[in-house]
Amino acid sequence: MQGQLFWPDAATAGAAGAGSGRCRVARHAAPTVIDLFCGCGGLSKGFLDAGYQVLLGIDSDQDALKTYGANIKGAKAMSIDLFDFSYTSKISALLAGRAVDVVVAGPPCQGFSLTGPRKFGDDRNRLYLAVFEAVRALRPKAVVIENVKGMKTLYNGEIKDEIVRRFRELGYSMPEPEILCSADYGVPQIRERLFFVGLRNDLGAFDYPHRSHSPANYITCEEAIGDLPGREVEQGSEEDVHRVPPKHVYQKKMRRNQKGLFNHVATQHTEYVKSVIRQVPEGGNYKDLPPGVGESRKFNEAWTRYHSAKPSRTIDTGHRNHFHYRYDRVPTIRENARLQSFPDDFVFIGPRTKQNKQVGNAVPPLLAEAIATHLLKYIRHEP
Ligand SMILES: C[S@@+](CC[C@H](N)C(=O)[O-])C[C@H]1O[C@@H](n2cnc3c(N)ncnc32)[C@H](O)[C@@H]1O
Repeated sequence: MQGQLFWPDAATAGAAGAGSGRCRVARHAAPTVIDLFCGCGGLSKGFLDAGYQVLLGIDSDQDALKTYGANIKGAKAMSIDLFDFSYTSKISALLAGRAVDVVVAGPPCQGFSLTGPRKFGDDRNRLYLAVFEAVRALRPKAVVIENVKGMKTLYNGEIKDEIVRRFRELGYSMPEPEILCSADYGVPQIRERLFFVGLRNDLGAFDYPHRSHSPANYITCEEAIGDLPGREVEQGSEEDVHRVPPKHVYQKKMRRNQKGLFNHVATQHTEYVKSVIRQVPEGGNYKDLPPGVGESRKFNEAWTRYHSAKPSRTIDTGHRNHFHYRYDRVPTIRENARLQSFPDDFVFIGPRTKQNKQVGNAVPPLLAEAIATHLLKYIRHEP
Protein backbone atom coordinates (compact mmCIF):
# COMPACT_ATOMS: atom_id res chain seq x y z
CA MET A 1 0.00 0.00 0.00
CA GLN A 2 3.00 2.28 0.33
CA GLY A 3 2.96 5.51 -1.61
CA GLN A 4 -0.45 4.86 -3.16
CA LEU A 5 -3.45 7.08 -3.22
CA PHE A 6 -5.64 5.26 -0.73
CA TRP A 7 -5.02 4.23 2.80
CA PRO A 8 -6.97 2.20 5.33
CA ASP A 9 -8.63 3.19 8.57
CA ALA A 10 -6.37 5.31 10.78
CA ALA A 11 -6.18 2.61 13.44
CA THR A 12 -4.61 0.16 11.00
CA ALA A 13 -2.67 2.57 8.80
CA GLY A 14 0.62 2.14 10.63
CA ALA A 15 0.48 -1.64 10.44
CA ALA A 16 -0.38 -1.64 6.76
CA GLY A 17 2.21 0.97 5.93
CA ALA A 18 4.81 -0.89 7.93
CA GLY A 19 4.83 -3.53 5.24
CA SER A 20 2.31 -6.06 6.50
CA GLY A 21 1.49 -6.71 2.85
CA ARG A 22 -2.18 -7.26 3.71
CA CYS A 23 -4.71 -5.67 1.40
CA ARG A 24 -7.43 -3.65 3.05
CA VAL A 25 -10.47 -1.83 1.72
CA ALA A 26 -9.56 1.76 0.93
CA ARG A 27 -11.67 4.24 2.88
CA HIS A 28 -9.74 7.48 3.08
CA ALA A 29 -7.63 9.41 0.64
CA ALA A 30 -4.00 9.10 1.66
CA PRO A 31 -2.80 12.35 3.21
CA THR A 32 -0.13 13.98 1.09
CA VAL A 33 3.32 15.12 2.21
CA ILE A 34 6.16 17.22 0.88
CA ASP A 35 9.59 17.05 2.49
CA LEU A 36 11.90 20.09 2.54
CA PHE A 37 15.63 19.43 3.10
CA CYS A 38 14.69 15.79 2.50
CA GLY A 39 18.24 14.36 2.49
CA CYS A 40 18.10 10.64 1.74
CA GLY A 41 14.53 10.51 3.08
CA GLY A 42 14.47 9.34 6.71
CA LEU A 43 11.45 11.53 7.53
CA SER A 44 9.70 10.67 4.27
CA LYS A 45 10.28 6.95 4.78
CA GLY A 46 8.51 7.11 8.16
CA PHE A 47 5.52 8.95 6.67
CA LEU A 48 5.37 6.54 3.73
CA ASP A 49 5.37 3.57 6.09
CA ALA A 50 2.57 5.18 8.11
CA GLY A 51 0.38 5.23 4.99
CA TYR A 52 0.89 8.77 3.65
CA GLN A 53 1.54 9.59 0.02
CA VAL A 54 4.82 11.45 -0.29
CA LEU A 55 4.62 13.73 -3.32
CA LEU A 56 7.93 15.50 -3.29
CA GLY A 57 11.32 15.73 -1.62
CA ILE A 58 13.51 18.82 -2.07
CA ASP A 59 17.22 19.08 -1.38
CA SER A 60 20.35 20.52 -3.01
CA ASP A 61 22.59 17.46 -2.55
CA GLN A 62 22.62 15.37 -5.73
CA ASP A 63 23.68 12.09 -4.11
CA ALA A 64 21.08 12.39 -1.36
CA LEU A 65 18.45 13.06 -4.03
CA LYS A 66 19.50 9.93 -5.95
CA THR A 67 19.05 7.87 -2.78
CA TYR A 68 15.73 9.60 -2.09
CA GLY A 69 14.41 9.00 -5.60
CA ALA A 70 15.41 5.33 -5.50
CA ASN A 71 13.75 4.61 -2.15
CA ILE A 72 10.77 6.89 -1.55
CA LYS A 73 8.26 5.25 -3.82
CA GLY A 74 5.95 7.53 -5.74
CA ALA A 75 7.76 10.75 -4.71
CA LYS A 76 9.60 13.14 -6.99
CA ALA A 77 13.11 14.13 -5.88
CA MET A 78 13.77 17.77 -6.79
CA SER A 79 17.03 19.63 -6.75
CA ILE A 80 16.33 23.15 -5.51
CA ASP A 81 18.40 25.59 -3.50
CA LEU A 82 16.02 26.55 -0.69
CA PHE A 83 17.89 29.80 -0.20
CA ASP A 84 15.85 30.93 -3.16
CA PHE A 85 12.27 31.61 -2.01
CA SER A 86 10.92 31.53 -5.56
CA TYR A 87 10.95 27.74 -5.06
CA THR A 88 7.32 27.88 -3.90
CA SER A 89 6.20 28.80 -7.43
CA LYS A 90 8.26 25.90 -8.84
CA ILE A 91 6.65 23.40 -6.53
CA SER A 92 3.15 24.82 -7.04
CA ALA A 93 3.60 24.21 -10.77
CA LEU A 94 4.80 20.69 -10.08
CA LEU A 95 1.95 19.89 -7.70
CA ALA A 96 -0.54 20.94 -10.39
CA GLY A 97 -3.31 21.75 -7.93
CA ARG A 98 -2.77 18.77 -5.58
CA ALA A 99 -3.34 19.83 -1.98
CA VAL A 100 -0.51 19.20 0.46
CA ASP A 101 -1.67 17.92 3.85
CA VAL A 102 1.65 17.89 5.68
CA VAL A 103 4.91 19.80 5.20
CA VAL A 104 7.84 18.05 6.88
CA ALA A 105 11.30 19.56 7.11
CA GLY A 106 14.73 18.99 8.60
CA PRO A 107 16.57 22.27 8.00
CA PRO A 108 20.33 22.01 8.53
CA CYS A 109 21.40 23.36 11.92
CA GLN A 110 24.10 25.52 10.30
CA GLY A 111 21.13 27.38 8.80
CA PHE A 112 20.84 29.03 12.18
CA SER A 113 23.06 32.00 12.59
CA LEU A 114 24.43 33.10 15.92
CA THR A 115 22.98 36.54 15.46
CA GLY A 116 20.21 36.07 18.02
CA PRO A 117 16.45 36.24 17.82
CA ARG A 118 16.21 39.93 17.08
CA LYS A 119 17.87 39.22 13.77
CA PHE A 120 15.74 36.20 12.98
CA GLY A 121 15.10 37.51 9.48
CA ASP A 122 18.85 37.66 8.85
CA ASP A 123 19.92 36.22 5.53
CA ARG A 124 21.74 33.35 7.19
CA ASN A 125 18.47 32.10 8.67
CA ARG A 126 16.81 31.91 5.29
CA LEU A 127 16.91 28.13 5.22
CA TYR A 128 14.62 28.03 8.22
CA LEU A 129 12.45 30.74 6.76
CA ALA A 130 11.94 28.55 3.68
CA VAL A 131 9.70 26.35 5.85
CA PHE A 132 7.47 29.31 6.80
CA GLU A 133 7.26 30.20 3.11
CA ALA A 134 6.02 26.71 2.21
CA VAL A 135 3.41 26.78 4.97
CA ARG A 136 2.27 30.25 3.94
CA ALA A 137 1.93 29.22 0.29
CA LEU A 138 0.46 25.71 0.69
CA ARG A 139 -1.63 26.00 3.90
CA PRO A 140 -1.09 22.35 4.88
CA LYS A 141 -3.02 20.77 7.74
CA ALA A 142 0.18 20.17 9.65
CA VAL A 143 3.85 20.99 9.71
CA VAL A 144 6.57 18.85 11.32
CA ILE A 145 10.11 20.16 11.79
CA GLU A 146 13.08 18.28 13.18
CA ASN A 147 16.18 19.94 14.51
CA VAL A 148 19.07 19.45 16.92
CA LYS A 149 18.07 19.54 20.56
CA GLY A 150 20.34 22.53 21.26
CA MET A 151 17.80 24.65 19.40
CA LYS A 152 15.53 24.41 22.45
CA THR A 153 17.86 26.37 24.70
CA LEU A 154 19.63 28.54 22.11
CA TYR A 155 19.55 32.17 23.34
CA ASN A 156 17.62 31.07 26.43
CA GLY A 157 14.95 29.54 24.24
CA GLU A 158 14.23 32.77 22.37
CA ILE A 159 14.84 31.20 18.93
CA LYS A 160 12.39 28.35 19.47
CA ASP A 161 9.88 30.80 20.96
CA GLU A 162 10.21 32.91 17.82
CA ILE A 163 9.58 29.87 15.60
CA VAL A 164 6.46 28.95 17.59
CA ARG A 165 5.27 32.58 17.52
CA ARG A 166 5.65 32.78 13.74
CA PHE A 167 3.65 29.60 13.16
CA ARG A 168 0.90 30.79 15.49
CA GLU A 169 0.82 34.04 13.53
CA LEU A 170 0.30 31.98 10.36
CA GLY A 171 -2.79 30.34 11.93
CA TYR A 172 -1.27 27.17 13.39
CA SER A 173 -1.56 25.85 16.92
CA MET A 174 1.86 24.71 18.06
CA PRO A 175 2.68 23.29 21.48
CA GLU A 176 6.13 23.73 22.98
CA PRO A 177 8.58 21.74 20.84
CA GLU A 178 9.63 18.49 22.44
CA ILE A 179 12.89 16.56 22.56
CA LEU A 180 12.19 12.98 21.54
CA CYS A 181 14.67 10.15 22.05
CA SER A 182 14.70 7.61 19.22
CA ALA A 183 15.28 4.65 21.55
CA ASP A 184 11.88 5.38 23.17
CA TYR A 185 10.25 4.57 19.81
CA GLY A 186 12.00 1.27 19.05
CA VAL A 187 15.14 2.62 17.36
CA PRO A 188 18.36 0.94 18.63
CA GLN A 189 20.05 4.30 19.18
CA ILE A 190 20.18 7.07 21.76
CA ARG A 191 19.45 10.04 19.55
CA GLU A 192 17.70 13.11 20.92
CA ARG A 193 16.20 15.61 18.52
CA LEU A 194 13.82 18.54 18.85
CA PHE A 195 10.44 18.34 17.09
CA PHE A 196 8.05 21.19 16.33
CA VAL A 197 4.57 20.07 15.27
CA GLY A 198 1.96 22.61 14.20
CA LEU A 199 -1.70 21.97 13.33
CA ARG A 200 -3.87 24.34 11.35
CA ASN A 201 -6.09 26.13 13.87
CA ASP A 202 -9.25 24.29 12.76
CA LEU A 203 -7.72 20.90 13.63
CA GLY A 204 -7.16 21.14 17.38
CA ALA A 205 -3.99 20.96 19.41
CA PHE A 206 -1.27 18.36 18.93
CA ASP A 207 0.11 16.24 21.73
CA TYR A 208 3.22 14.12 21.23
CA PRO A 209 3.06 10.32 20.76
CA HIS A 210 3.57 8.12 23.81
CA ARG A 211 6.79 6.12 24.00
CA SER A 212 6.63 2.48 22.94
CA HIS A 213 9.89 1.53 24.68
CA SER A 214 11.74 2.28 27.92
CA PRO A 215 15.33 1.53 29.01
CA ALA A 216 14.21 -1.92 30.22
CA ASN A 217 13.27 -3.00 26.69
CA TYR A 218 15.36 -0.76 24.44
CA ILE A 219 16.51 -2.50 21.26
CA THR A 220 20.23 -3.25 21.63
CA CYS A 221 23.09 -3.11 19.15
CA GLU A 222 23.36 -6.87 19.02
CA GLU A 223 19.62 -7.27 18.46
CA ALA A 224 19.89 -4.72 15.64
CA ILE A 225 23.00 -5.82 13.74
CA GLY A 226 24.12 -9.17 15.20
CA ASP A 227 23.03 -11.10 12.09
CA LEU A 228 25.19 -9.11 9.64
CA PRO A 229 28.42 -10.70 8.32
CA GLY A 230 31.45 -9.64 10.40
CA ARG A 231 33.71 -8.50 7.54
CA GLU A 232 36.69 -9.36 9.70
CA VAL A 233 38.75 -10.96 6.95
CA GLU A 234 37.36 -9.34 3.81
CA GLN A 235 35.82 -5.97 3.07
CA GLY A 236 32.81 -7.38 1.23
CA SER A 237 31.12 -5.95 -1.83
CA GLU A 238 28.37 -3.37 -2.37
CA GLU A 239 25.90 -6.20 -2.87
CA ASP A 240 25.96 -9.46 -0.96
CA VAL A 241 23.62 -11.92 0.74
CA HIS A 242 22.52 -12.44 4.32
CA ARG A 243 24.33 -15.57 5.46
CA VAL A 244 22.54 -16.36 8.72
CA PRO A 245 18.85 -16.26 9.59
CA PRO A 246 17.57 -13.29 11.62
CA LYS A 247 17.71 -13.95 15.37
CA HIS A 248 15.63 -11.10 16.73
CA VAL A 249 12.29 -9.57 15.84
CA TYR A 250 14.06 -6.29 14.97
CA GLN A 251 16.37 -8.09 12.52
CA LYS A 252 13.31 -9.75 10.94
CA LYS A 253 11.68 -6.36 10.58
CA MET A 254 14.77 -4.88 8.92
CA ARG A 255 15.01 -7.83 6.53
CA ARG A 256 11.32 -7.98 5.67
CA ASN A 257 11.58 -6.95 1.98
CA GLN A 258 15.21 -7.97 1.48
CA LYS A 259 16.54 -8.39 -2.01
CA GLY A 260 20.15 -8.73 -0.92
CA LEU A 261 22.59 -7.11 1.46
CA PHE A 262 23.71 -3.69 0.25
CA ASN A 263 26.18 -1.07 1.54
CA HIS A 264 27.89 -3.57 3.86
CA VAL A 265 31.53 -2.88 3.01
CA ALA A 266 34.10 -2.70 5.83
CA THR A 267 36.64 0.11 6.20
CA GLN A 268 40.30 -0.97 5.99
CA HIS A 269 42.00 0.46 9.07
CA THR A 270 45.74 0.56 9.60
CA GLU A 271 47.23 -2.05 11.94
CA TYR A 272 47.83 0.72 14.49
CA VAL A 273 44.18 1.86 14.50
CA LYS A 274 43.01 -1.76 14.80
CA SER A 275 45.37 -2.33 17.71
CA VAL A 276 43.93 0.70 19.54
CA ILE A 277 40.32 -0.31 18.95
CA ARG A 278 41.15 -3.82 20.20
CA GLN A 279 42.07 -2.37 23.59
CA VAL A 280 38.75 -0.55 24.09
CA PRO A 281 36.21 -2.68 26.00
CA GLU A 282 32.53 -2.79 25.03
CA GLY A 283 30.87 0.47 25.98
CA GLY A 284 34.29 2.07 26.65
CA ASN A 285 36.16 4.98 25.07
CA TYR A 286 39.55 6.71 25.05
CA LYS A 287 39.50 6.89 28.86
CA ASP A 288 39.83 3.09 29.00
CA LEU A 289 43.06 3.03 26.96
CA PRO A 290 46.43 2.53 28.66
CA PRO A 291 48.69 5.63 28.89
CA GLY A 292 50.33 6.45 25.57
CA VAL A 293 47.77 4.60 23.43
CA GLY A 294 45.37 6.45 21.11
CA GLU A 295 46.57 9.81 22.41
CA SER A 296 45.83 11.54 19.10
CA ARG A 297 42.09 11.49 19.85
CA LYS A 298 40.98 12.56 23.30
CA PHE A 299 37.67 14.35 22.82
CA ASN A 300 34.36 13.23 24.26
CA GLU A 301 33.38 10.57 21.69
CA ALA A 302 36.91 9.42 20.77
CA TRP A 303 37.54 5.67 20.48
CA THR A 304 34.00 4.81 21.55
CA ARG A 305 33.05 1.15 21.23
CA TYR A 306 29.37 0.31 21.19
CA HIS A 307 27.96 -2.02 23.82
CA SER A 308 26.24 -5.13 22.47
CA ALA A 309 23.57 -5.02 25.18
CA LYS A 310 22.68 -1.31 24.77
CA PRO A 311 21.42 0.96 21.99
CA SER A 312 24.19 2.75 20.05
CA ARG A 313 25.34 6.31 20.63
CA THR A 314 24.03 8.94 18.20
CA ILE A 315 25.04 8.03 14.66
CA ASP A 316 26.89 11.02 13.19
CA THR A 317 27.88 11.94 9.66
CA GLY A 318 31.59 11.16 10.02
CA HIS A 319 31.54 7.68 11.54
CA ARG A 320 35.21 7.68 12.44
CA ASN A 321 35.06 7.59 16.23
CA HIS A 322 32.53 4.87 16.96
CA PHE A 323 33.39 1.19 16.63
CA HIS A 324 31.55 -2.08 16.34
CA TYR A 325 30.90 -3.77 19.69
CA ARG A 326 32.67 -6.93 18.53
CA TYR A 327 34.77 -6.20 15.42
CA ASP A 328 37.78 -3.89 15.42
CA ARG A 329 36.46 -1.46 12.83
CA VAL A 330 33.95 1.32 12.34
CA PRO A 331 30.41 0.13 11.52
CA THR A 332 29.56 -0.29 7.85
CA ILE A 333 26.95 1.92 6.18
CA ARG A 334 24.43 -0.93 6.54
CA GLU A 335 25.14 -1.36 10.25
CA ASN A 336 24.62 2.35 10.85
CA ALA A 337 21.52 2.31 8.65
CA ARG A 338 20.12 -0.53 10.81
CA LEU A 339 20.93 1.48 13.97
CA GLN A 340 19.00 4.34 12.36
CA SER A 341 16.11 1.90 11.62
CA PHE A 342 16.43 1.99 7.81
CA PRO A 343 15.33 -1.43 6.52
CA ASP A 344 17.75 -3.45 4.38
CA ASP A 345 15.89 -2.73 1.14
CA PHE A 346 16.68 0.99 1.57
CA VAL A 347 19.84 1.34 -0.53
CA PHE A 348 22.24 4.29 -0.21
CA ILE A 349 23.77 5.81 -3.35
CA GLY A 350 26.93 7.88 -3.89
CA PRO A 351 30.51 7.81 -2.59
CA ARG A 352 30.89 6.25 0.87
CA THR A 353 31.53 9.60 2.60
CA LYS A 354 28.24 10.88 1.13
CA GLN A 355 26.41 7.71 2.17
CA ASN A 356 27.68 8.22 5.73
CA LYS A 357 26.40 11.78 5.62
CA GLN A 358 22.98 10.69 4.37
CA VAL A 359 22.61 8.07 7.11
CA GLY A 360 23.91 10.32 9.91
CA ASN A 361 21.75 13.29 8.89
CA ALA A 362 18.51 11.34 8.76
CA VAL A 363 15.55 11.22 11.09
CA PRO A 364 15.24 7.52 12.04
CA PRO A 365 12.31 6.20 9.95
CA LEU A 366 10.76 4.37 12.94
CA LEU A 367 10.64 7.60 14.95
CA ALA A 368 9.21 9.47 11.95
CA GLU A 369 6.63 6.70 11.54
CA ALA A 370 5.55 7.01 15.19
CA ILE A 371 4.98 10.77 14.76
CA ALA A 372 3.25 10.29 11.39
CA THR A 373 0.92 7.58 12.70
CA HIS A 374 -0.01 9.70 15.70
CA LEU A 375 -0.63 12.72 13.46
CA LEU A 376 -3.25 10.77 11.47
CA LYS A 377 -5.80 11.14 14.23
CA TYR A 378 -5.74 14.92 13.78
CA ILE A 379 -5.68 15.17 10.01
CA ARG A 380 -7.69 12.21 8.74
CA HIS A 381 -10.39 13.21 6.36
CA GLU A 382 -13.04 11.63 4.18
CA PRO A 383 -12.41 11.49 0.43
C1 LIG B 1 19.58 17.30 8.43
S1 LIG B 1 19.59 16.95 6.72
C2 LIG B 1 17.91 16.42 6.48
C3 LIG B 1 17.68 14.97 6.73
C4 LIG B 1 16.31 14.46 6.34
N1 LIG B 1 15.25 15.17 7.03
C5 LIG B 1 16.16 12.97 6.61
O1 LIG B 1 15.38 12.59 7.48
O2 LIG B 1 16.84 12.17 5.93
C6 LIG B 1 19.61 18.55 6.03
C7 LIG B 1 19.57 18.58 4.50
O3 LIG B 1 19.51 19.95 4.08
C8 LIG B 1 20.10 20.01 2.79
N2 LIG B 1 20.39 21.41 2.46
C9 LIG B 1 21.33 22.22 3.02
N3 LIG B 1 21.30 23.44 2.43
C10 LIG B 1 20.31 23.40 1.50
C11 LIG B 1 19.80 24.36 0.57
N4 LIG B 1 20.30 25.60 0.48
N5 LIG B 1 18.78 24.00 -0.23
C12 LIG B 1 18.27 22.75 -0.17
N6 LIG B 1 18.72 21.80 0.68
C13 LIG B 1 19.73 22.11 1.51
C14 LIG B 1 21.33 19.12 2.95
O4 LIG B 1 21.79 18.69 1.67
C15 LIG B 1 20.80 18.00 3.83
O5 LIG B 1 20.43 16.88 3.05
